[in-house]
Amino acid sequence: DEIDKCGYEHFMLKEIHEQPHTISDTFRGRISMDQSNLFLGGITDVLPRLVQARRIIIIACGTSWHAGLVGEYLFEEYARIPVEVEYASEFRYRNPVIYADDVIIAISQSGETADTLAAIKMAKESGALILGVCNVAGSSIARETDAGVYTHAGIEIGVASTKAFTSQVTVLMMMAFLLGKKRNLISQEAYEELIAGLTQIPDKIQEILSDEQYIKGIGETYKDATNALYLGRGNLYPVALEGALKLKEISYIHAEGYPAAEMKHGPIALIDENMPVFIIATKDKSYEKIVSNIQEVKARNGKVIAVVTKGDDVIVKMADHVIEVPECHEALAPLVTIIPLQIISYYIAVLRGCNVDQPRNLAKSVTVE
Ligand code: G6P
Repeated sequence: DEIDKCGYEHFMLKEIHEQPHTISDTFRGRISMDQSNLFLGGITDVLPRLVQARRIIIIACGTSWHAGLVGEYLFEEYARIPVEVEYASEFRYRNPVIYADDVIIAISQSGETADTLAAIKMAKESGALILGVCNVAGSSIARETDAGVYTHAGIEIGVASTKAFTSQVTVLMMMAFLLGKKRNLISQEAYEELIAGLTQIPDKIQEILSDEQYIKGIGETYKDATNALYLGRGNLYPVALEGALKLKEISYIHAEGYPAAEMKHGPIALIDENMPVFIIATKDKSYEKIVSNIQEVKARNGKVIAVVTKGDDVIVKMADHVIEVPECHEALAPLVTIIPLQIISYYIAVLRGCNVDQPRNLAKSVTVE
């Protein structure tokens, strides 16, 4: 047991630290030597159908569903294919409309989640191409799908998913960039910029991990909170959802993720001096808007913990705490911004004396309905 944890106190902490390597493992062998092209061997044969897809339907549960939401932004932005992201448990019972030229992508770390598996079986009758994004090779979902891309994150033991999430997001990024290229929607230059950017992500995550003690210190300040709000926009909205899920799963603090602009339609009523608000506010096209969201929280005395791009000199003056992350391409930002949120949830849970690797009432793999 101790050997498996490689000296870390918990599997979750070990898995958080593994991410620079697991993300490299996800893209290894899938990027050409000169970084000019992507190859996804598992879907090469079915690529023409994917390129022609009328629509992509992503089905998943839990953290994998959050990865799917990141995928929605990417596929729509780069490949211009409409995307629906569905909870497998809802989809399977809804008598959904599925066309034969739709492509379904099932995302599952374990490849054994009962609802996701049942949703795939149900969707088969439609004749749509069904792809899997699984971590466990040979798992039930990997076997039931027509083709797929393995995430190669290695065995994940902590119930709160960390490295599996970033590897799923990495696969979806590669798929979206490849599709965008094949559909002639992105130039070779832009394609290479995205690919090069992806290869730099592991070093950027390593840099964030070196700030672990500082991030832990922020966790100490908020360990007794009873509620927390997580806000993000665009492809960072799913990161807000995932950040909130990490906190509630392992520390039992009630947390909600919200698209930042929706705050005014409800959660703003909850903001007072006892409410920590985690805001993902890296430099992208929504930056000015997120700055106003921070002002709205501060005007109500909420505590703002902002994840910002390194060198940000605006938010630093407004937020109670800032966590800097290295600059990266906007499309890739989910991979770096989730890291500090994983770290903070981990330390808050440890400081509260929670069983981080095996939180109450949760299972690593939900194989029953
Ligand atoms: C459980 C786990 C989560 C996971 C979800 C979906 O709830 O605790 O970490 O995200 O199942 O699992 P899957 O294996 O299908 O990704």
